[in-house]
Amino acid sequence: MKNTFSPPNSRQIAMPKPDKWRYYLYLSVIWLVSPLVQDAVYAAGAISGDTVFIENNTAFPNASGLSATFSTQTAIDLDNEFFQPLGSNGRSCSTCHLPEEGWSITPKGVQQRFNGSGGGEAIFRTNDGANSQHAKVSTLKARRVAYSLLLNKGVIRMGIKVPENAEFELIDISDPYGFATVNDLNPSFEFSLFRRPLPATNLKFLSAVMWDGRETVSGRSIHYDLTRQANNATTGHAQGQPLSSAQRRHIVEFETALFTAQVYDNDAQVLNVSGVKGGPVALSKQGFYKGINDFFGDGKTGQPHNSRVFKLYDAWNDLMVTAPTDIRAAVARGQQLFNSKPIVISGVPGLNDAPGFGNIDVINGTCSTCHNTPNAGSHSASRFLNIGVSDAAQRTSDMPLHTLRNKATGELLKSTDPGRALITGKWQDIGRFKVPVLRGLAARAPYFHNGMAKELGNVLDFYDRRFQIGFDNRERLDLILFLRSL
Ligand code: HEC
Ligand code: HEC
Repeated sequence: MKNTFSPPNSRQIAMPKPDKWRYYLYLSVIWLVSPLVQDAVYAAGAISGDTVFIENNTAFPNASGLSATFSTQTAIDLDNEFFQPLGSNGRSCSTCHLPEEGWSITPKGVQQRFNGSGGGEAIFRTNDGANSQHAKVSTLKARRVAYSLLLNKGVIRMGIKVPENAEFELIDISDPYGFATVNDLNPSFEFSLFRRPLPATNLKFLSAVMWDGRETVSGRSIHYDLTRQANNATTGHAQGQPLSSAQRRHIVEFETALFTAQVYDNDAQVLNVSGVKGGPVALSKQGFYKGINDFFGDGKTGQPHNSRVFKLYDAWNDLMVTAPTDIRAAVARGQQLFNSKPIVISGVPGLNDAPGFGNIDVINGTCSTCHNTPNAGSHSASRFLNIGVSDAAQRTSDMPLHTLRNKATGELLKSTDPGRALITGKWQDIGRFKVPVLRGLAARAPYFHNGMAKELGNVLDFYDRRFQIGFDNRERLDLILFLRSL
């Protein structure tokens, strides 16, 4: 027997004609059933016998509209190992990668789970859910304190050691949670790095796996990397035994079939009709290969970089002239700004110092210089960039700050998260991270690896300061409307 949790007769979001009232109806129906879907997702591991799945294109509400997932496996199979507790602490992949939260987690969702379970639900485990592994969790009040970063920013603690033979050493840590202190400077010391779960969807467009690329093995496919990743997530996050090769294969086949995007915006309305190409179905047909449209020339064809990376809303370009006050014209303008608003990119390690390209000090670029993958917005080459998110200047008092010393030069650097450098041991890699896919953004605020940008507006404020772009209010609004329609 088959069970689905979408409302009967009103679950397909892809429909021939735009009809906003039907969407409002969906919205209300889906609001009503969404606790059911959540329960189903959380309990999927416990359900046996029946095949349980979420229909393709079932829409889930978020702050600015609806997002949906399309699986090339025809539906989201809740019987997949992805939803089963595979370790010893009750967690499954779906503990931190939820379909209704853009296959990541949101503070709001985490807070609901905390309130519903008194902080007992499986995400609340001290190994990596708490601010410190030693945090006291015996009372409700203690648990609220212990899991404050997870509750406020939806971040998970990654424990990573300094690699042997690193070009730098750790000389001081300021950790508000007293976990990683200088007293811990011993061989088993690990950094506490608080990071957002990257979405376990739209994986077709990856050139590197994890924020620091640590699951990416040079010369191997993303498929291979994801298989490694699934296993390490089980032994790490879920504190379990290694997965069988069949389990790994099932998980990777499941997650690589997923495509997620916003399908409806509260203001611009339907995002996948009348020639516009929003939504997950069109995304699933988008071509990709490593190095496509690279800034330094396409990896396969050698064609120069085309800054028109997003073309989803081209069908609304005319409105910029005929109906400039229409919200859909604003979305089209936002897309144009993303593709063409000049940004003077300098001092970005990983780009301005890219070896083999002549170390270009100043690149006259755009958002799409770094977010170069057509209609997806990831970086198509396996390259890690430091735009300054983990710089000391961005540090807020809830984050640990690490002082690192270059063993050769004695130079000092402070960073909340050294990123790629903890994988390669290279000084120049401090603060470098991968460029994430930009689809389905509205479903999974906050942004950046440490969740420091609460909303898309905060992302733009960061870029405006970092690169002195000088957005005016109109441009800022247009860009937000575009980004939240992705
Ligand atoms: C406790 C929460 C948690 C659990 C459980 C969890 N993940 Fe994750 N996942 C994360 C975090 C946090 C990251 C990003 C970490 C980083 O980059 O350092 C991540 C990253 C990923 C990525 C990388 C995506 C990308 O763009 O590179 C994939 C794929 C993924 N997880 C799949 C899984 C699978 C499959 C499972 C189950 C076997 C799983 N996760 C279990 C928190 C979790
Ligand atoms: C110099 C390269 C570069 C440029 C230019 C750039 N980005 Fe980014 N972007 C990145 C990197 C790297 C990250 C990840 C940084 C981190 O979290 O440490 C990122 C992250 C983001 C995120 C957060 C995604 C998430 O899942 O958390 C958004 C949104 C974003 N960029 C939008 C933009 C917009 C809009 C512009 C233009 C105004 C822009 N970017 C320009 C490199 C760039």
